[in-house]
Amino acid sequence: MAEELKHGPNYKEHFDTQFYLRSNYSDPRTSGLSNLTYLLDKLHTMFSSGQIKGAKLLEFGTGPTIHTLISASKYVTDITCAEYAECNRNEINKWLQWDKDAHDWTETFQYIAGLEGSRDIKSMELRVRGALKQVIPCDINLKNPLHPFTYSNYDTTISSLVLESACHTLDHYGKSLKRIGSLIKDGGKLIMYGLLKESSYMVNGVTFHSLYLEADDVIRALKNAGFIRIDMKICETDLEPSISKIDESEKFLVVCDKRENACRAK
Ligand SMILES: C[S@@+](CC[C@H](N)C(=O)[O-])C[C@H]1O[C@@H](n2cnc3c(N)ncnc32)[C@H](O)[C@@H]1O
Repeated sequence: MAEELKHGPNYKEHFDTQFYLRSNYSDPRTSGLSNLTYLLDKLHTMFSSGQIKGAKLLEFGTGPTIHTLISASKYVTDITCAEYAECNRNEINKWLQWDKDAHDWTETFQYIAGLEGSRDIKSMELRVRGALKQVIPCDINLKNPLHPFTYSNYDTTISSLVLESACHTLDHYGKSLKRIGSLIKDGGKLIMYGLLKESSYMVNGVTFHSLYLEADDVIRALKNAGFIRIDMKICETDLEPSISKIDESEKFLVVCDKRENACRAK
């Protein structure tokens, strides 16, 4: 009998946060998640070039991670992390509160410090802790995905590997992008990192659903959701083939702007 794919509510009990962090986020140079250095390099370039403006940033579906916030926190002063599963929110809070059992992000900080031409990772850690104002729940299946909070008007939203995990059909994906769009102010930016041509992924032997997407599906859904100036790149990796890549799947990184008066989410 085919294994049942885990999705939605299963994240709360079956997502092995520690395993996910250990295998994907111990060291960006050798991460099981191929293209991680590509993502970190691009985020560094986007923020340091002044392309991303404004003080308010939402990370939607942050999981137990903070890697996308490190470059941003040099330029953005008010970050909200929204995450669906309580176990993942707890992990971020552990890191925020200097809990000795929190995941060790030193290698990631060191990598980004290299990009910034710095060696002072202590002040970078303080910078992220200072900018990250709150960790709140989210659910893309709610009309207001940040319920019970009513925050919107974010200057920038980052979302990494979330909608393909949370959505079951292209229709659901399109509707979810509109909901994400409803959280961004007119003219604000969406930065989305995602998975292409995969229908599942595995965390510690448990297989999770992933919506099979082609690049055109993503672009079409973004246009319908009111995003313009869509710049999509298929990610490359600079890892040596000899460094084993557990995850060979194709990833994309898209940056786009929310159109003025884009249609409302339903
Ligand atoms: C593969 S993890 C990605 C985590 C992190 N953003 C990263 O890049 O490593 C998929 C994420 O989707 C979230 N997710 C699953 N169902 C969701 C839903 N209905 N609404 C919002 N997020 C959801 C999970 O809680 C999990 O954090």
